[in-house]
Amino acid sequence: MELLRQIVVFIHLIGFAVLFGAWVAQAFGGQRRFTRLMDVGLAIAGLAGLALAAPWGISWEPGMSFYLKVTVKLVVLIVIGALLGIGSARQRKGGNVAPALFWSVGVLALLNAGFGLFWR
Ligand code: HEM
Repeated sequence: MELLRQIVVFIHLIGFAVLFGAWVAQAFGGQRRFTRLMDVGLAIAGLAGLALAAPWGISWEPGMSFYLKVTVKLVVLIVIGALLGIGSARQRKGGNVAPALFWSVGVLALLNAGFGLFWR
């Protein structure tokens, strides 16, 4: 079970890498547009995250802090999804993503990674 959880954490990290990597490519040298790859990364990180939100394959008893972290991460994920949705709709109509929207996605993705690593 412990190994299976590690594999799911690995998949979770791949989701983060795809989302953040796609965003960095657009932020630095790209056209600062939202891409399909960002949706894919968010979906992978989200699905694996939901699986990790249940306390299986761990030897410690999860307390309030664990569930609070998971809830905050879920809220951040929903906000990122909403921002990607709004920006993508604007792009389909031929417009550009507002800079505040574009930069928020990168910052929020990093924020969730930070919660995952430092909120223990
Ligand atoms: C944009 C979305 C997300 C990103 C970028 C992200 C990123 C990360 C990263 C980098 C880690 C650290 C892995 C490690 O321990 O080395 C992590 C851990 C974790 N994440 Fe996420 N995450 C996201 C969404 C979520 C969501 C939506 C949930 C739950 C509903 C979640 C639940 C967890 C849990 C429970 C851990 C701890 C895993 C463990 O140590 O057993 N994550 N996340």
